[in-house]
Amino acid sequence: MKTLITGIKPTGQIHLGNYLGAFKPAFEYQNEYESYIFLANLHALTTFQNGSELKSYSENLAIDLLSLGLDPEKSTFFVQSQIPEHSELMWILSSLAPMGLLERAHAWKDYKNKGLRDPNLSLFSYPVLMAADILLYQADIVPVGSDQKQHIEITRDLAGKFNNHFGETFKMPEELITFPVDVSGIDGRKMSKSYNNYLPIFATENEIKKSIMKISTDSTPVEATKNPETCNIFNIYKLIASDKDIQNLKDKYLAGGFGYGDAKKELLRVYLEYFAEAREKRTKFENNIDLVQSILQNGKQKAQAKAKQTLELVKQNTGINLF
Ligand code: TRP
Repeated sequence: MKTLITGIKPTGQIHLGNYLGAFKPAFEYQNEYESYIFLANLHALTTFQNGSELKSYSENLAIDLLSLGLDPEKSTFFVQSQIPEHSELMWILSSLAPMGLLERAHAWKDYKNKGLRDPNLSLFSYPVLMAADILLYQADIVPVGSDQKQHIEITRDLAGKFNNHFGETFKMPEELITFPVDVSGIDGRKMSKSYNNYLPIFATENEIKKSIMKISTDSTPVEATKNPETCNIFNIYKLIASDKDIQNLKDKYLAGGFGYGDAKKELLRVYLEYFAEAREKRTKFENNIDLVQSILQNGKQKAQAKAKQTLELVKQNTGINLF
């Protein structure tokens, strides 16, 4: 069985774009691959330094993922910071990481282009930690969004360099771009936390309703026929509704006499139905935090066994293991 790894940063409430674009496809691979899925809380540290917030985001994300289909029987689910081997390998890899390569990384370039001052070293070395995450588990594939492609390329660069220099040690991982189209947000731009245009998954029904009501539309009057293809409501709807519902809604758009308010109500109905099971499961996990903890503890043990094995080989090959 081939190995898969992916990390998810705890950065706050998760939304439809996260689910459709990243989690859902990754969870579908659980049957086919030996899967490692982790909370990338060390990566989250690069951008925020509020301890209680990071802790609560991380705990919530663990519950979210378990509720949405991460199956701990099939996947090894763990917390990055609980496995010090990640940081250790990162240091070793950074001895092979050219500054020039990291300076060309998008995240770093974007940061500098925005003119932000005083960036942290951790932001610069973000891709090296990510390479360590992946190489420690000798992963074959890494399901990620298209924005992470370059990080996997950097990972391969570092692995190749290491293997050439110190002898065959790491497997070459491949990225698997999980969702080739962006999910559009309530203003039509890519759904993203940074645009604040997202539909939350685990907010209250009322909050979800409010977000859906905010979806922007054109000003075609109720009576007129409407174009489903250019409508934000329809574009979100078609990602989660059944074929039959999609056809039905399309017919209503084309017939006219059906307003955007009606379409929003229909989207809300389908949205709540789509996530009903996950929302129910979430309540169960929330009431059983011990279970969540024991899942992560179990995951830690399994992941660490693998991580230690790789790091041992790395230490041998680099000559830092004495006696
Ligand atoms: N950088 C990834 C993101 O922002 C998260 C991540 C950290 C990751 N380590 C990883 C993804 C290892 C895949 C493999 O989405």
